[in-house]
Amino acid sequence: MFASAFVLGLVGLAGLAAASPVPDLPVVPRYPGTALSKGFHLVINVTDDCKDLHPSIQNTYVTSIHTGAGLALVGNSPQPQYARIFYQNGTAEEKRFGAVTTISDSGTPPFPSGLKLVKDPASETVSTAHLDAGLGSEGVGIAAFPEPYAFLTPETYAACNESLPYYQGRYFVIIKQVKLTVGENGRVNRNIPEGCAPVRLLPECTHLNDLPKGSYSSHEFAIEDRCYKDVKSIKWGGYGP
Ligand SMILES: *[C@@H]1O[C@H](CO)[C@@H](O)[C@H](O)[C@H]1NC(C)=O
Ligand SMILES: *[C@@H]1O[C@H](CO)[C@@H](O)[C@H](O)[C@H]1NC(C)=O
Ligand SMILES: *[C@@H]1O[C@H](CO)[C@@H](O)[C@H](O)[C@H]1NC(C)=O
Repeated sequence: MFASAFVLGLVGLAGLAAASPVPDLPVVPRYPGTALSKGFHLVINVTDDCKDLHPSIQNTYVTSIHTGAGLALVGNSPQPQYARIFYQNGTAEEKRFGAVTTISDSGTPPFPSGLKLVKDPASETVSTAHLDAGLGSEGVGIAAFPEPYAFLTPETYAACNESLPYYQGRYFVIIKQVKLTVGENGRVNRNIPEGCAPVRLLPECTHLNDLPKGSYSSHEFAIEDRCYKDVKSIKWGGYGP
């Protein structure tokens, strides 16, 4: 649908250009600029305003919610000091084939905790994001060129308000990942569960710290990639299509 709208747009422009003796303003898509960094925070961008949670989660930082020794779910905090530092791990070839993982270091001495998507037992399409000690899911990384925006894949991510047994049923915002399905009529179903906000997780550049001696983590394969300098300052209305 996007492709055909785009082609129509071009045809329309070409028609205009041919008919008009004065130069038309070219409709050039604009995208927010990025910088390069190995380390990044993840910032929540609610892609459908009216689905935002209350209090709003827009521009809050991805953090971790401790749920046991070496176990954590993925949550959010408005305070940058609680933002987890992430990096993509892999060789250049793994990056090229979309086979990297996304890691955050935990503990003292630091050990790797990989962003892992674990299928919800009751659902065909929904997975819950974990940040447990150990490997991350292959393919969780920053979208590559020619995608004009930088965001965590595979999409779609969703922020859901759920009660956690580990905290005696207290409610937390936790990050999930949802697979699209296409119905028999060709209609795309985004499958965002009721009460969840569809979000994009945007990388915001931050310094990837040096590791102390005796660390179990390694930054040898941390990949330098694009990220935004300050997500909350981006005025999305001025960009697109
Ligand atoms: C962030 O969300 C806004 C709507 O709130 C949307 O216009 C914009 O395209 C989103 N950014 C990205 C990179 O998807
Ligand atoms: C989450 O749900 C609980 C129970 O319905 C409610 O009290 C709380 O305000 C909700 N929090 C958010 C962020 O929506
Ligand atoms: C990081 O990537 C390298 C290269 O593929 C691999 O050897 C190493 O095990 C990875 N580390 C983690 C924590 O996944």
